[in-house]
Amino acid sequence: MAHRIVTLPGDGIGPEIMAPTLELLDRLGDFEFEEHLFGGASIDAHGVALTDEVLAACRGADAVLLAAVGGPKWDTTDPARPRPEQGLLGLRKGLGLYANLRPVKPLPALYDASPLRRERIEGTDLLVVRELTGGIYFGEKTRTATSASDVCSYTTAEIERIARVAFEAARAKVTSVDKANVLETSRLWREVVSEVHSREFPHIQLEHVLVDNAAMQLVSSPRHFDTILTENMFGDILSDEAAMLTGSIGMLPSASLGADGPGMFEPVHGSAPDIAGQGLANPLAMFLSAAMLLRHGLGLASEAAAVELAVAGALAAGLRTPDLGGEAGTAHACKAVFENI
Ligand code: IPM
Ligand code: MG
Repeated sequence: MAHRIVTLPGDGIGPEIMAPTLELLDRLGDFEFEEHLFGGASIDAHGVALTDEVLAACRGADAVLLAAVGGPKWDTTDPARPRPEQGLLGLRKGLGLYANLRPVKPLPALYDASPLRRERIEGTDLLVVRELTGGIYFGEKTRTATSASDVCSYTTAEIERIARVAFEAARAKVTSVDKANVLETSRLWREVVSEVHSREFPHIQLEHVLVDNAAMQLVSSPRHFDTILTENMFGDILSDEAAMLTGSIGMLPSASLGADGPGMFEPVHGSAPDIAGQGLANPLAMFLSAAMLLRHGLGLASEAAAVELAVAGALAAGLRTPDLGGEAGTAHACKAVFENI
C-alpha cells in the first residue's frame, strides 16, 4: 500500500525545493502525496498559519514533509496579527512532536566549504536532540504597552522523555546542555537527566555543560560531541551554530518525532525570501530531510541510505550551490543528485 505523506511547501523557496523532493521520493517507492497550504500561504488564504483541516490531515498521514515558512510579507511585532511560525509551533504541539533530531555530519567533500578550518571539523559526527514542545516557546506570554514576558517551564515528565531519546540515540556519550548556574528550569533539567541516566542508561557517559560553554566548544572542538541533549531554545540556537560545521545551513535536515502518530520532517533552514523564485535554492537539506522521513518515519532504511549516498556522490563530483560557494542552481543540483540514485 502507498505511504500517505502530507506535504507542506509553505513559503519562499519552500515550493521550489518541495517539488523535486517529491520527484526524488517517487523514484524510490510508492507514495501518495497530499499537499496543503501552510504558514504565510495559509495566512493569505485563511487568515491563520495552520487550519484545523490541515492539522487533521497531518494527524491522519503516515508522515509530514515540510519545506519552510515565513517571509517579510508576514513579519510583524504586533501580537494580534498572525505569523507563519505559529503554524510550525501549532503543528509541533498538535502532533505531540517533542523530540527534534538534528544530525550534523560534515561531508568530506565539503570540509573546505565551512568557515571553520578543515582540521577543526574533520571527523565531526554529532546529533542535536532538541526538546521541541516545551520551555519558553510554549510558556505563557504577556504584553502591555511597557513590558512583556515569556514564561519558561518544564515538567519532570517532559525532561525524562526527551532524555530517553538522547540516551537511546547516543553511541557513547550524551552532553546535556543547560544554564543551571542561573535558571531554575535548568537545575530541574540537570537533576532529571542525571536520574534517567543512572537508572536506565548507566553504560552511556553523561556530562553537563553550560550553554555558553557548549556554544564555544561547538566551534573550538566539535569532535568532542556525540549527542547533545538540550531544551527548546538552546537547541534552536546551537543547531544553527552547528549547521555551519557542514558548510551551510542549506545542508541540515531534521526529524521531529512524538510518542506515536506521524513524524514531521523538514530542513533546518528557513524560507530564504531573498533568493525565492530565482532557481538558486539548495535542495540538499530538503532531500536529506526526505531521507530522515524514509528512515525514521517509514522504516525504509535502505531507501534513506540511497538518498544520502546520492547527495554525497553529487557533492563529491563537484556539485556546489551558491550557499556552498558555487554556481549550481536548484535544477542543476537536482539533476546531479538524481543521476546518483
Ligand atoms: C527552527 C526554526 C523555528 C524555531 C522557527 C521558524 C519558529 O528556527 O526550526 O529551528 O525556532 O523552532
Ligand atoms: Mg531555528
